[in-house]
Amino acid sequence: MRYRSLFLCLLLIPGSFLTSKGQSSSPKGLVADHAMVVSAREEASKIGIEILKQGGNAFDAMMATEMALAVTFPFAGNLGGGGFMVYRMADGRIGSLDYREKAPLAATKDMYLDKDGNVIPNLSTQGMLASGVPGTLAGIFEAQAKFGKLKPNQVLQPVIDLARNGYVVSKKQAESLRNHRQIFIQVNGPNTFFGKEFQAGDTIKQPALANTLERIAKKGKNEFYKGETAKILVNHFQTNGGIISKKDLIQYKAVWRDPIVFPYRDLKIISMAPPSSGGITLGQILKMLEPYPLSKLGHHSSEYVQLLVEAERRAYADRNHYLGDPDFVKIPTNQLLDPSYLKSRMSNFSFEKASKSADIAHGDLSFEESMETTHYSIVDADGNAVSVTTTLNGAYGSKVFVEELGFFMNNEMDDFSAKAGVPNMFGLVGTEANSIAPGKRMLSSMTPTIVEKEGKLSMVVGTPGGSTIITSVLQTILNVYEFDMGMQEAVNAPRFHHQWLPDLVNFEPKAFGTTLVNQLKSKGYLLYEGNSTIIGKVDAIRLLSNGKLEGGADPRGDDKAVGY
Ligand code: DON
Repeated sequence: MRYRSLFLCLLLIPGSFLTSKGQSSSPKGLVADHAMVVSAREEASKIGIEILKQGGNAFDAMMATEMALAVTFPFAGNLGGGGFMVYRMADGRIGSLDYREKAPLAATKDMYLDKDGNVIPNLSTQGMLASGVPGTLAGIFEAQAKFGKLKPNQVLQPVIDLARNGYVVSKKQAESLRNHRQIFIQVNGPNTFFGKEFQAGDTIKQPALANTLERIAKKGKNEFYKGETAKILVNHFQTNGGIISKKDLIQYKAVWRDPIVFPYRDLKIISMAPPSSGGITLGQILKMLEPYPLSKLGHHSSEYVQLLVEAERRAYADRNHYLGDPDFVKIPTNQLLDPSYLKSRMSNFSFEKASKSADIAHGDLSFEESMETTHYSIVDADGNAVSVTTTLNGAYGSKVFVEELGFFMNNEMDDFSAKAGVPNMFGLVGTEANSIAPGKRMLSSMTPTIVEKEGKLSMVVGTPGGSTIITSVLQTILNVYEFDMGMQEAVNAPRFHHQWLPDLVNFEPKAFGTTLVNQLKSKGYLLYEGNSTIIGKVDAIRLLSNGKLEGGADPRGDDKAVGY
């Protein structure tokens, strides 16, 4: 009852929570006067800035940063994967690019099921059948050709040099490479490139990757989709039991899509449309939360956590049922974001007691696989902004490493629903909307997002984290605009996550007090504080009121903001 009266009392203070705040706190992250790149690796952020200083804009820097991540961050940075980019030009024009992988033409709905109709373990996550047709090169060339200012070979030169001359392995990276070494060998044989033992401080030089990038710099994206690179890639798949074909590569195209745009209090949020669930699901959650006085409830108060969890529960239930590739399924976007629909979704919520997702026991949440996607945020000196999330899906994707080309392939096929109701590696269950079909894009949670306030660019944000991407972006936005945190502080703050099924609330370990935990348990919430769980790795930029930029580089990784 206490909560209900608190809520009613706050409702009586007119206008007390109708606008966001988010400018009073002093920045704790890097502050730059003109431009900034925040990414998972310092080398990649530096190369992005170098390209900006050479006269390139945010789209040139995108190409450079994305490829530099492929060199220095092979867990997720990629040529063999895909991604999404949301942009906002300095003059306010917005848009987004979908370069998500597609199911190969030879893929079939039941390709991961045995003769009894059961999902065959690991087939969609590891090895030759796990990969979708890569979209990354199509994406970065499409964006750069449309908006960039430099020639691709100028943009890619520092990346080629980096691949040839090498980069230094960090402590976190050495540990990750060590943890995956046996599986690289198991999938690719004993002489595979990453089968060597790398220690922190070692320099990794990648001549095969440098050669691939050099050919691409010279000949453009056709080198990847139709040229020698395509030939080697297809041959690797066709001779090792894979199904990616020449036709798959030739047919692949990145697609410009209208972003999902919605207001939240006095903000305008611009995020990714399907085939990513990011924008719609973020929109549903924020619109369900909007009527509540979040900032008055207190950051990480049990009421705040409850509200987010209950809105997340309802939004993920819709996500899993309705969303898929818009080129294959009809998505009721307007209805899903309709304020009266969302109000009705929350009508059975009570602060007294947890809602129940379904009759499913916990235990299906498989966070053991270390997950690796990567996000980077860029603002150039003219004020153009790009927000990009790119991935191989799991750490090092399918673990298939094409030795001659020097890169890993994705295991994005696992983002499809292999069988209705059976959870994928993020514990997400899907339905027909996200079933496998030839040439279809698998549903994503990637949420590259841009926030406008009073008609001006205010924040560029995104993160890896599989199903936790949406809730990490959500909390970062709320931290800044409801709780007045600076960008770095908002990124650092502990996070929690709920996704409808399994019916668990996932907390970052040791980051939340026992009082909160006990309050939530007493209301019937099932909590999970697993050891290996990292909830997102957010890289973001916010505009300060004095026109400068503050970076938020996630300390959970080696992430770094670089600016000038
Ligand atoms: O598209 C998706 O939603 C997933 N493939 C993203 C994977 C991911 O974020 C893993 N990294 N932490």
